Amino acid sequence: MGRKILVLTGSPRKNGNTNTVVGWFAEGAKEAGADVEVIDTALLKSRNNGCIACLGCQKSDKYECVVEDDVKPVLARIPDFDVLVFATPTYFFGPSAQLKLVIDRMYSLIKFDPTEGNYVHNLGHLKWALICTGGGDIRPGVSLVDKTFKTVAGFIGSECDSLLVSNASMFSDELKQNSEIREQALAFGRKLAS
Ligand SMILES: Cc1cc2nc3c(=O)[nH]c(=O)nc-3n(C[C@H](O)[C@H](O)[C@H](O)COP(=O)(O)O)c2cc1C
Repeated sequence: MGRKILVLTGSPRKNGNTNTVVGWFAEGAKEAGADVEVIDTALLKSRNNGCIACLGCQKSDKYECVVEDDVKPVLARIPDFDVLVFATPTYFFGPSAQLKLVIDRMYSLIKFDPTEGNYVHNLGHLKWALICTGGGDIRPGVSLVDKTFKTVAGFIGSECDSLLVSNASMFSDELKQNSEIREQALAFGRKLAS
């Protein structure tokens, strides 16, 4: 059986740049035998608009968020995958709020022990990846988002491979015709599938 890949997308533009690249990525990964599931975080109904730091997850033995809404089951399924891909436009030098809202609630998958100063989680097997598009130059825009995701992945003992697409305008459909980016995204999909 091929690798199980979960893609969490965070663009409110259904047919925008990020989802275009994700489509190519998924095509490449599926061709290479991966099982790819894409979940659009912009469509998830969230009860509190983010993590409310209730610490309910830290008081429970389970690796799950206690807030009942659309995001909770998505979070609970993350450990079932081999690869977790975050796909986002750059918004003010960070990921979109739609995606960040889900990421912050991944706190529920990590147990912190304030007395010992350490933490345990069930994400050690997971490979992280980032697909990030931005309208501006690669620096600082998309590269800053890349740095954030690499830092977070490192924090939980993993690595984050990335496909960064700069100069991706929202005011034209130019990216859809960009065969170079298409090839890069297909190759990125094949790479993460194996
Ligand atoms: C609210 C907002 C903030 C943005 N901030 C940045 C930014 O800081 N850096 C950048 O390179 N592009 C920025 N952009 C441009 C988008 O990241 C870029 O065009 C992206 O490819 C859009 O992706 P989409 O079509 O998937 O929505 C911003 C766009 C919006 C709407």
